[in-house]
Amino acid sequence: MQRIRKAVFPVAGLGTRFLPATKAMPKEMLTVVDRPVIQHVVDEARAAGIEHLIFVTGRGKAVIEDHFDRAYELEATLAARGKKAELEILNAAQPGAGETSFTRQQSPLGLGHAVWCARDLVGNEPFAVLLPDVLVLAKKSCLAQMIDAHRETGEKTNLIAVEEVAPDQTHQYGVVGMGARKGPAFEVTSMVEKPAKGTAPSNNIVTGRYILQPEIFEVLEKQERGAGGEIQLTDAMVALAKTQKFYGFNFEGTTYDCGSKLGFLAANVAFGLAREDIAESFRSELKRITAGSK
Ligand code: G1P
Repeated sequence: MQRIRKAVFPVAGLGTRFLPATKAMPKEMLTVVDRPVIQHVVDEARAAGIEHLIFVTGRGKAVIEDHFDRAYELEATLAARGKKAELEILNAAQPGAGETSFTRQQSPLGLGHAVWCARDLVGNEPFAVLLPDVLVLAKKSCLAQMIDAHRETGEKTNLIAVEEVAPDQTHQYGVVGMGARKGPAFEVTSMVEKPAKGTAPSNNIVTGRYILQPEIFEVLEKQERGAGGEIQLTDAMVALAKTQKFYGFNFEGTTYDCGSKLGFLAANVAFGLAREDIAESFRSELKRITAGSK
């Protein structure tokens, strides 16, 4: 079984739902507790053994590149002042030399196009895709759970993290039809991007974590437009499903859609309460606030 060594992070999105916060700052740099959203997603990937992080960025996103670089002056100053704990925080979050790559999606043509922009950096091996809007709070990294499940579905298979949502929510997502069980996963029988209300094949949505075979790039190469006039990753997966197996995997954990204001606020509460160092005082603070609100 080929190891999953590389992960692609499509981070070119405009973040219009968070204006004015995202006017001069990428939405991926909004903070959940004390680290940017993209840092949480990268931590999930690194906890799953990913060795190379591939960012598909765009105009105005250069600060993401800086975030994953060493900050020499800052580190030197912290060291001179004996700030060991702060240095440790920086070190733990730091990918090693040569473990990151950045390429740009030059036009906003859709998620499928963003992933295709990473084709040369990925090369001819299976790889992971993690959408930075989605944070998963879980005991074991969601991607690590997926890699374990993928090992059981066999060579040349693709695996998508899925979760159930209320039927009136499915039109906002990619939706999969679920067939026979295979170990910890299910065979995917159909996939559709943003189905019209009442037409979804199930309530299982694509949550933004994928393990894909490199043949997806040959399909994306054709650059066919789908829902919203965009080049959709889901459509490319539908085409690839004619020759390769796709599996859906219900992971353990709770997802937060940080692309929406409510999801982002909820993520801050949930991740804050999950942090031993602040959980207790944060809980009392939340009680105080909610007791006073109507
Ligand atoms: C993307 C995918 C969709 C998936 C969703 C998860 O949609 O195209 O299949 O369900 O992410 O958040 P977007 O949120 O970019 O519209």
